[in-house]
Amino acid sequence: MMLDAARRLIAPSRRSDVPPFMVMDVMAAAAKIEAAGGRVIHMEVGQPAAAAPRAAREAARKALDSGPLGYTETLGIASLRARIARHYQETHGVAVPVERVIVTTGSSAGFILAFLSMFETGDRVAVATPGYPPYRHILRALGCEPVPVETTSATRFALTGAMLKAAHAKTPLAGVLVASPANPTGTMMTGEALAELIGVAEGLGIRVISDEIYHGLDYAFPAVSAAQFSDRAVIINSFSKYFCMTGWRIGWMIAPEPLVRPIERLQGNLAISVPTLSQIAAQAAFDGRAELEAIKHGYEENRRILVEGLPRAGLDKFLPVDGAFYLYADVSRFTNDSLDFAKRMLQEAGVAATPGVDFDPTDGAHHLRFCYAGSAADMHEAVERIGGWLKRG
Ligand SMILES: Cc1ncc(COP(=O)(O)O)c(C=O)c1O
Repeated sequence: MMLDAARRLIAPSRRSDVPPFMVMDVMAAAAKIEAAGGRVIHMEVGQPAAAAPRAAREAARKALDSGPLGYTETLGIASLRARIARHYQETHGVAVPVERVIVTTGSSAGFILAFLSMFETGDRVAVATPGYPPYRHILRALGCEPVPVETTSATRFALTGAMLKAAHAKTPLAGVLVASPANPTGTMMTGEALAELIGVAEGLGIRVISDEIYHGLDYAFPAVSAAQFSDRAVIINSFSKYFCMTGWRIGWMIAPEPLVRPIERLQGNLAISVPTLSQIAAQAAFDGRAELEAIKHGYEENRRILVEGLPRAGLDKFLPVDGAFYLYADVSRFTNDSLDFAKRMLQEAGVAATPGVDFDPTDGAHHLRFCYAGSAADMHEAVERIGGWLKRG
């Protein structure tokens, strides 16, 4: 009895019981191989190999040497918010009032702020499967209910208005989360598809969150923003991917006007403000376009190497490689257990990839996600290694 009482004093809450990333197992195994002197081609971690653009690093260096770097306004440094607003005019031809721009600690913090400001506990939010797992896990930790909706190649692995209607008819939804380009699939929604989904959602009273973190990394066709179709949708974005600033932990959101003050209150209480050095660097990153476009062209070349090379190596089934820096390969010809397959590919071929089970509890056992944000030389070597390994059986 005493023991039980003592145990309760140190027991974690039920809401903290979110699943870990299985890819961590693959990363740990890769680190072991490297510690023993082996070479691993890393295609498991979804981040750019390149550093932040030079302009961002120089601005940060200057700020470090000259200022106290105190807190900033909770919604972000005014000049950075204005620069982000201008970005929508330049990229999408949409006027986004600067008052609706909120700087966040990566898009990860954006999700917490969006979910807290939009939903009550118990609210149901539709998310596509396969999809980025933290959508589900953050919702769950905050007391909301993620509603996974299976997608297929028929819709480019995106939710449609019809799918949303069907899910809503079963049990009412309060929200829907869309992502294009998407992780892990690397597929994109066309402008028509996104407009249709937003139209249906808003017609049903379902609030839309659009994760646009992979914007800028579009190859098949230009990515469209939910801002082009609605000023009621909440848009989440980040400097992590296109701008190569994962570790700087900086992102932004565009919120409808009535949500801005609640989000300001939440962020003020949860974090006071966003790291000042990162805000300064992020604003300067907009001046690093030439460098960033060159990096993007590198991804395009990597994409070409994999799309041509992997079928020759034996991996001939994958989803349309539209954007972001992911290729989602169907490995059902070889396995029913993508985690085991990923571990063996790492041990025997020295190529690390992410098992699909991280993104899709059902069909993920048949898929592997490859990140192609590394070097072209690594892509060529990965194709050779995988080909040799699959041929050896
Ligand atoms: C689809 C998607 N959304 C959001 C994030 C979170 O990124 P960050 O918090 O660095 O902006 C990631 C990171 O991999 C992602 O893949």
